[in-house]
Amino acid sequence: MNILILGGGGREHSLAWAVLQNPKCDRLIVAPGNAGIAAIADCATLDTEDGAAVATFVDEEAIDFVIVGPEAPLAAGVADRLRDAGVLVFGPSQAAAQLEASKAFTKQICDAAGAPTAAYGHFTDAAAAKAYVTAQGAPIVVKADGLAAGKGVIIAETVEAAHAAIDDMFGGAFGGAGAEVVIEEFMQGEEASFFVLCDGADVLPIGTAQDHKRVGEGDTGPNTGGMGAYSPAPVLTDAIAERALAEIIRPTMAEMAARGMPYQGVLYAGLMIENGAPRLVEYNVRFGDPECQVLMMRLGAQALDLMQAAAEGRLRDAQVNWADDHAITVVMAANGYPGSYEKGSVIKGLDTLPETSSQMVFHAGTSLRDGQITSSGGRVLNVTARGTTLAQAAAQAYGMIDGIDFADGFCRRDIGWRALGD
Ligand code: AMP
Ligand code: GLY
Repeated sequence: MNILILGGGGREHSLAWAVLQNPKCDRLIVAPGNAGIAAIADCATLDTEDGAAVATFVDEEAIDFVIVGPEAPLAAGVADRLRDAGVLVFGPSQAAAQLEASKAFTKQICDAAGAPTAAYGHFTDAAAAKAYVTAQGAPIVVKADGLAAGKGVIIAETVEAAHAAIDDMFGGAFGGAGAEVVIEEFMQGEEASFFVLCDGADVLPIGTAQDHKRVGEGDTGPNTGGMGAYSPAPVLTDAIAERALAEIIRPTMAEMAARGMPYQGVLYAGLMIENGAPRLVEYNVRFGDPECQVLMMRLGAQALDLMQAAAEGRLRDAQVNWADDHAITVVMAANGYPGSYEKGSVIKGLDTLPETSSQMVFHAGTSLRDGQITSSGGRVLNVTARGTTLAQAAAQAYGMIDGIDFADGFCRRDIGWRALGD
């Protein structure tokens, strides 16, 4: 099987790493890829949001299966274009990708499906939005409707702060994404992520994870794309996962199918758990980054079989072979991230580290310059390990970090603290 993965971050490096372990994979191309991916697969330059360009490339390279990593190509309809051309694709249609691309759409689906989530109002003008906030009081959550690269959510502690956020959003601070605004009840509880494969009819859970969104130790400081993650998430017990499937995910899938937009791909459900009950915070229509890295480390080669089964509508007969293991990934970021940071720092020591089925450094933002690995993004490396306990996995990952010479980088030293403290 010739496989194309779209994307070029740590998520796609881990997908490539897992796919290559499967003997079914004859050839793997990743577009655009990065320096770490280039060490294990062919990389290609391609406009991954241009469906016609991707379809032409697939034809020229005799690709049998396309795995879409990030949300942007999905929201742009790349999966539809490929399916129209008869290509097997892992990833939802443009219509189904609204579960991530529009928060108002997701709230309407939850209403119709009876899925528990925060109470909300949906507004297209600032005056009505402000009146709603005044009536509800604070804390309250103000969200730009569209894709805003993870920045379109403001948790307002006061009514005044919420009003200011509303003015910012309608004033264009998030571009077109803020033309409509969703205002939500602030939910208490502990957050965890639940990953489920969907084939339009059936669903198959493939793991739970928790990430650390804040840049600082103890979960403090500004939000980032994620500074580390671990799987499984102990807070998401089997009983809560069953409830999330029965009350949130299956009803959502049924509603999507009833609307003529069956969902196929991975559904990433962000859940808020309070007193044993899950409520939906958000859906994403792709794997989380860096959550994917810990899921791939645990699933290994079977990830390809499972994604193929989802794409071919065969999930009813698919099953995950679980090992009783734990995985962790620690992000090494460029100094200054998530604010401004330098690119082009040389990273040394990577070639001295083991690369095994339980230890791997996935590259998130690197490029090769004069034969040296250099940083080319805010999040640069995902140092990932698996063990029989989370503590063992964490000790391995931090041991690997000690072998990496990245003078202009930093990492959090407390990834996994909630679960390790148990
Ligand atoms: P989202 O992009 O919708 O996931 O929001 C980003 C983050 O904001 C989430 O991961 C939560 O930590 C937080 N958040 C979003 N909505 C709520 C809510 N209704 N109540 C509490 N926290 C929220
Ligand atoms: N790590 C959060 C995300 O991928 O959205």
